[in-house]
Amino acid sequence: MLTGKHVLLIIGGGIAAFKSLDLIRRLRERGAVVTPVLTKAGEAFVTPLSVSALAGTKVYGDLFDLTDEAEMGHIQLSRVADLIVVAPATADLMAKMAQGHANDLASTLLLATDTPVLIAPAMNVRMWQHPATQRNRATLAQDGVTSVGPGEGDMACGEYGPGRMAEPLEIVAAIERHLSTGPLNGKRVLVTSGPTHEPIDPVRYIANRSSGAQGTAIGTALAALGADVVFITGPADVPPPAQAKVVRVTTAEEMRCAVMAALPVDAAIFAAAVADWRLKEASGRKLKKSKEGLPKLDLAENPDILRDVANLSENRPDLVVGFAAETDDVVAHATAKRVRKGCDWIVANDVSEASGVMGGTDNTVTLIDDAGAEDWPTLSKTDVATRLAARIAAALSKA
Ligand code: C5P
Repeated sequence: MLTGKHVLLIIGGGIAAFKSLDLIRRLRERGAVVTPVLTKAGEAFVTPLSVSALAGTKVYGDLFDLTDEAEMGHIQLSRVADLIVVAPATADLMAKMAQGHANDLASTLLLATDTPVLIAPAMNVRMWQHPATQRNRATLAQDGVTSVGPGEGDMACGEYGPGRMAEPLEIVAAIERHLSTGPLNGKRVLVTSGPTHEPIDPVRYIANRSSGAQGTAIGTALAALGADVVFITGPADVPPPAQAKVVRVTTAEEMRCAVMAALPVDAAIFAAAVADWRLKEASGRKLKKSKEGLPKLDLAENPDILRDVANLSENRPDLVVGFAAETDDVVAHATAKRVRKGCDWIVANDVSEASGVMGGTDNTVTLIDDAGAEDWPTLSKTDVATRLAARIAAALSKA
């Protein structure tokens, strides 16, 4: 919820401005107060009347409107907000921000403010990829401006690629993360989830039964405490958390690359059920049945991502958590695994068929750390995640 939070929304001049109308509605539904600023170019795409009707307040637009200056100067306007959101942030607005221009109301109050700023870039693919825009983006990031999106997809201009403004609900999630006062605020946490698929040939693969349910629940619980969650997932049945930055992968090797690229993080939770083996060489063509007998599947061991991260000499997260899915002697095996892998905690669970964990809604886990093993009662996967997220928050607050 954003009850009582004050968002100053700057609407730039791009076709994505129509999505900002929905953004206003979504923010107000959550209890936020939205003060809209519409740039001159923005007025070409949405009318001040529609913005004002949805925001339930007047729209600010002209730097030299003397009535406004008497009512609320632009400096004041920029400072009463808890967060300034620029959506759409056009290439031009980003350039102005990076250069420190102050030649209209939007750019002036962005320069005059000490309030955090979140931008949702939106522009043509080539404009986004242009070195000038990428330079501006890097400058803004250095200045502490955070961004959400852009996404990839078909664009209004008929091209395809990155440049589409993030969807209103993604922007809302980014705003909630920003304004959250949770214990994981400002912490970056990585979660791996789902199975991996290791190709045998173009149509077959080695996999396992992981649904991704526990991983998604953990990502959601961490984000609810204010963490910035990077969620690296194999092909799972359960959708990833809406509030996370999602990286989709297929194989263990891809998952390892994505994990290493996401570092540094404060904590890393390895909930993925990574396939232990892959084919040394997957066939480029579909394997055929033959009279000569069965195909020879020559296996190679996959990289152990958890072990590699837990043993990093540089960039090791403060807290590394692994999972141990066992079918017998759960605690003994998991305790040995914690030491073997070099991680801080192991969340152990019984995945024997009788336990019904795989694909089910409940989980019975034991948390193992250097002090020993703590049995948790049978809980829903959501409750396991909530409890684990609270423990992670407590551990990071001491780190
Ligand atoms: O060795 P085992 O597969 O039982 O270890 C389970 C733990 O290690 C899980 O946390 C899993 O996400 C992680 N793991 C990994 N990379 C592998 C295998 C397991 O990160 N190749």
